Amino acid sequence: MCGIVAYIGEKPALPILLNGLKRLEYRGYDSAGVALIEGDKLNVYKKQGKVAELEKVVNSNSEGATTGIGHTRWATHGAPNDTNAHPHYSHSKKLAVIHNGIIENYGSIKTDLSEKGYEFRSETDTEVLVNFIEDIQVSLKVTLEEAVRIALSKVIGAYAMVILSKEEPNKMIAARKGSPMVIGVGSNEYFIASDATPIIEYTKEVIYLNDEEVAVINEGELKITDIKDIPKKPEIHKLDLQLEAIEKGGYEHFMLKEVFEQPKSIADCMRGRINAAQHTLTLGGIHKYEDQLINANRVIIIGCGTSWHAGLVAEYLFEDICRIPLEVEYASEFRYRNPIINKGDIVIAISQSGETADTLAAIELAKSKGAIVFGVVNAVGSSISRITHEGAYLHAGPEIGVASTKAFTAQLTVLTMIALTVAHKKQTISQARFNDLLNELESIPAKVEKALKSDDQIKKVAGLFKDASNFIYLGRGYNFPVALEGALKLKEISYIHAEGYPAAEMKHGPIALIDENMPVVFIATRDSSYDKIVSNIQEVKSRKGKVIAIVTEGDVLIPKMADFTIEVPGTHEALMPLVSVIPLQLLSYHIAVMRGCNVDQPRNLAKSVTVE
Ligand code: G6P
Repeated sequence: MCGIVAYIGEKPALPILLNGLKRLEYRGYDSAGVALIEGDKLNVYKKQGKVAELEKVVNSNSEGATTGIGHTRWATHGAPNDTNAHPHYSHSKKLAVIHNGIIENYGSIKTDLSEKGYEFRSETDTEVLVNFIEDIQVSLKVTLEEAVRIALSKVIGAYAMVILSKEEPNKMIAARKGSPMVIGVGSNEYFIASDATPIIEYTKEVIYLNDEEVAVINEGELKITDIKDIPKKPEIHKLDLQLEAIEKGGYEHFMLKEVFEQPKSIADCMRGRINAAQHTLTLGGIHKYEDQLINANRVIIIGCGTSWHAGLVAEYLFEDICRIPLEVEYASEFRYRNPIINKGDIVIAISQSGETADTLAAIELAKSKGAIVFGVVNAVGSSISRITHEGAYLHAGPEIGVASTKAFTAQLTVLTMIALTVAHKKQTISQARFNDLLNELESIPAKVEKALKSDDQIKKVAGLFKDASNFIYLGRGYNFPVALEGALKLKEISYIHAEGYPAAEMKHGPIALIDENMPVVFIATRDSSYDKIVSNIQEVKSRKGKVIAIVTEGDVLIPKMADFTIEVPGTHEALMPLVSVIPLQLLSYHIAVMRGCNVDQPRNLAKSVTVE
């Protein structure tokens, strides 16, 4: 949450910052600001709203500034307004800081500073941090970097921060703990950002700052130490990311682009890993701890949001084909629950961003209890990919729309490959079934492509239900988590209240809501619970609910009962979520567009949730 970008070099900083902030807007978009070294001044410009609003107020004479910091905010402390927007000046206005994260002990630090005469303009923890640094610098008569290190060793919480000083215009200091930070290394220039997207058009060489590291760029030289001032050797990584991957490519929204990219992203996810013709499956990232995974007594999956839903699908699959008990936990609950982790338990953490604060903390907890933790992560080089013992990347490419789509199907693909690897090696499935599932998995991109062809039909259905106030999504077995995911997509981007339920559980509550105004989406593809879900559709129809059914192509029974049916190609039931979720993504997309909602940046949400 919150995006930070900074530049120090020879080019005009302002366009780099504004461009970078636009790329980072998915991380937060309630206010934005920049601070620039302009001659002997340190000027701050900030504005409530999107980066486009900031552009209107920023001084066009700022073109000469070659050093600056920028921030796009997702409010934690204080309302989203001009005053609470970052950057924040220190009391003397000699320092300006941008910050992503939460300083948990800001209250006590603020009280101490207030007693010393500091006054605060905003309600933020960030303004407390910058004044804390200033106070240390002045009272202990130390350099700015020393003051930063001392301050950060006393704060509790998470931060990625960059600070500028009017008195040292050629210096920039950055530090992180628990919030992501990447440094781009150009020629005579450095870029700092929450992720690589603002950097890739200038340089492909990056350094991922680690927790409790401080980077000082002074007179063109970069030095990294830890917060105790012990020097660290920076490791330069080469980015494998193209600019097109983070642009809309002719689509109206990133979300739509990402939905339509799925045949490719699923294929990319399997590339080099599956060869169905030769019956081989190789996950290069799972090697050292493969035996522990195969012999696990229990697997615990942790994640949040859509990633948690992907975990629920894996629960069905692992138990079915690997015969390993599997539990799926919200990372936020797991971390505070004193969970029991026994020898032989394996944890799998799922995360698109690789930065979700609760998931990170849950991984640390699991590791401290001796668990081997595998990561299923999309963002290359992200914190979760680095703190897990091993893992498999999604290779789905950057996902920018806040509502997760292609990451979900790539997560399912990776989890299926992990389960198949384990089942094959454990011999809990026959070679014939393994071959069959591998073949079927390889055919999924083509089936997703076909499912996307219903887009026009789905748009018409969306037009009929766009004014509904509530939706129910029902599915059974492998399609139950898909019902949860469909409901989540709808509420996230269209603000319509939607609930996902196991179809049979409807009788224990949600059925009371059904009348002629209630749209009920059934994910009713042909599988082992088909007959049961047909009965559930009848129960809804008897109460005059409006049924939208996702069915396997060629189904002749359900179209006679449902008000609307949308066909998807058939596949093995364990793989059906990869296909059946597609119409639900499109349905929520079209409804949100028709309601005039900001699909890519829905209100109150953020793509990367780096606060708990
Ligand atoms: C946010 C995003 C969701 C995502 C969830 C977990 O809520 O808006 O799309 O599913 O975080 O994020 P992660 O990056 O860990 O998958």
